[in-house]
Amino acid sequence: MTDTASSIDIASLIDIENGRLSGKIFTDEEIYEQELEKVWKRAWVMLAHDSMIPRKGDFLQTYIGEDPVMVVRQKDGGVKAFLNQCRHRGMRICRVDKGTAKAFTCTFHGWAYDLAGDLIQVPRQDTAYPETFERGRFGAVKVPRVQYYKGFWFGTWDEDAPDFEEYLGSAKYYLDGYIDRWDGGMEQVAFHRWVLPNNWKFMAEQPTSDMQHSEITHVSAATVLNKGSDAADRTKRGTNPTGRQFFSDYGHGGAWYGEKGAEVPNTGQAMQRYEAQPEIAEMIARRLGDDREIRGHLNIWPTFMVLGNYTIRVTHPRGPHEMEVWAWTFVPKDAPEDIKDSIRRDVLRTFTPAGMFEADDALNWEEMQHVLKGRVARDTGYLYQMVGAPIQWDEGCYPGGSSAHVFSDNAAINMYATYLDMMTSDSWEELMEKRAQHRMGLAPVSAAGDRAEA
Ligand code: FES
Ligand SMILES: [Fe+2]
Repeated sequence: MTDTASSIDIASLIDIENGRLSGKIFTDEEIYEQELEKVWKRAWVMLAHDSMIPRKGDFLQTYIGEDPVMVVRQKDGGVKAFLNQCRHRGMRICRVDKGTAKAFTCTFHGWAYDLAGDLIQVPRQDTAYPETFERGRFGAVKVPRVQYYKGFWFGTWDEDAPDFEEYLGSAKYYLDGYIDRWDGGMEQVAFHRWVLPNNWKFMAEQPTSDMQHSEITHVSAATVLNKGSDAADRTKRGTNPTGRQFFSDYGHGGAWYGEKGAEVPNTGQAMQRYEAQPEIAEMIARRLGDDREIRGHLNIWPTFMVLGNYTIRVTHPRGPHEMEVWAWTFVPKDAPEDIKDSIRRDVLRTFTPAGMFEADDALNWEEMQHVLKGRVARDTGYLYQMVGAPIQWDEGCYPGGSSAHVFSDNAAINMYATYLDMMTSDSWEELMEKRAQHRMGLAPVSAAGDRAEA
């Protein structure tokens, strides 16, 4: 049962075969309400990393969609998550962002919850409530599925969602390349969060698919940051788009330069130096195999993003016109302090609110959202017809669908195909059937790259 009976026919706004989207999917309130129900209540969302809540009683507040969620380390070392909403009158149970607690007491009328979210105290229960009142019935609403994956905790509201690893599918191979690289694991050393005035899908699309913007949007920043090195010359990269784009069943996608040994231009010099050391290179090869030198951008649908310099982020939707970015800097836990600090500074000057790349990107999204206020602009439609190279399946060492060309819209259109299937399915069962039928949601593209004119 859903509470959003939309009058909008979303299928009329997303034309996968011809690579056309209507701007309405980025502005419409009704569509947004439907997204909360059909996407955000159903998808797996990253909740926390082990290093954010290391000890029992450690907690943080995050969101799944717009729903505030408490993530709490339990006495047994596990993690539980529950809605941060008091069952009495709906106040936030906990009002601080993070900390360590033995219990959580609502500041409105004093109802208290334990680390698992169970209600343990109701002031005046003995004298003012009937004997029939059962505390056990009013624990916080639990996130029913919480799963651990290589240091990260993910949650979904949907009991019927596939296991997290199944949801990852072929994206697992690529994600592991970032998060499973180190014997000692990773830790987060910095956190920034900020609000941007644009629809959440603009940002999700970028690490999924759009490497091409970087040679235009980021040209000044790249030139400045790479002064003195070849990487400063973005025109070289533009004429030599070696690399690959990847996409998978549930909308995940990524792209990187170079087939192997891909560099991390201008953002990860400290990390590159560290990884070039023979014993470190040997460790990475042992863990990942020789073929997995893939370091670009990756998005696990809907918005768990990993960038090649270990900035890891989640965005939370805030209505059709706004999103909240939560971005962490990760480092290899066993790295020397000076390397960790260099990585932190590399990220600071590139992919944080004060970072040069971040400012470049944010301006595009803000402008796009602003243009969409126009009544004609909203109906003009967006174009996703760049095919890069023919789509290949499980090609060589690359699982999933991919194109051997770093510049392509295939992964973006696959993301919107997944989105469309989610928005038009009432259950995971239906969604999985649709996804299987539409494998990757992409119309076949000929070797010449033809896609119908629209
Ligand atoms: S709203 Fe929480 S105790 Fe009343
Ligand atoms: Fe960018």
